[in-house]
Amino acid sequence: MDLMEKLSESKAYIESKLGGRKPVIGLILGSGLGDMAETIGEPAIIDYHDIPHFPVSTVPGHKGRLVAGELEGKTVLCMQGRFHYYEGYSMEEVVYPIRVMKMLGINALFLTNAAGCVNTSWKPGDLMLITDHIKLIADNPLRGSNPDALGARFFDMTQAYDKDMVALASKAAEDLSIEVRKGVYMLFTGPSFETAAEVRFARLAGADAVGMSTVPEAIAASHMRMHTMGISCLTNMAAGILDQPLNHEEVLETGERVKKTFSALVREIVKRWPEEKL
Ligand code: HPA
Repeated sequence: MDLMEKLSESKAYIESKLGGRKPVIGLILGSGLGDMAETIGEPAIIDYHDIPHFPVSTVPGHKGRLVAGELEGKTVLCMQGRFHYYEGYSMEEVVYPIRVMKMLGINALFLTNAAGCVNTSWKPGDLMLITDHIKLIADNPLRGSNPDALGARFFDMTQAYDKDMVALASKAAEDLSIEVRKGVYMLFTGPSFETAAEVRFARLAGADAVGMSTVPEAIAASHMRMHTMGISCLTNMAAGILDQPLNHEEVLETGERVKKTFSALVREIVKRWPEEKL
């Protein structure tokens, strides 16, 4: 079965569970933001493992489900749990849900994640609007035969993170008195955190944050000409900046500390997401 046939079957199954809801924004909740899905009104909930052709979760106890419903006056389709490259999925598997979203008629994508802070003027707990990314690793979700029905073989990435949406998000943050940064996100495969030398290299290369997600999704979304924006919660100073080892607990703790602010900002952006970017 080819990709388009698989996508059609996934789409048909999801549609049959949506009860007529027509989601317009795809929302990917990164570490720490998962709870936001619980605030979605009148939700339709679909487990990933029930969706034909969806990647199968390898992580025990991992919450993997779509939650569709109302958020700030918009119908959203939310991924509670995403697929990471470091879990062993191919890049194509990682972006499969984004393609299903597009098949469902969604043209707007909101990506969130937790990331390490490379910019030494910033601090853990800061939120960063992603203006661009660096993908140093060779793999790419569009490597291989091009699914022409989804997009062109060669495609622009200069608007991968919609500039108007960055401006809109900046204004929303200002109105809520939330301080936000703007910067460049650099993808590392993980699951090892970066070395101190890799973080120095990332900074020299122009990165403000490092992380293990988001980039494949943004590439697939650009291929399909979706309007995309991303926010990183900078949960920790990246390796080697402070004189202490990195640990996952710090990532979770900071995520917990800022999740109220982070979700307030996400909601405000959803509320203001303009008609012409849907
Ligand atoms: N590196 C990579 N990914 C991350 C980090 C980090 O320091 N913190 C949270 N996600």
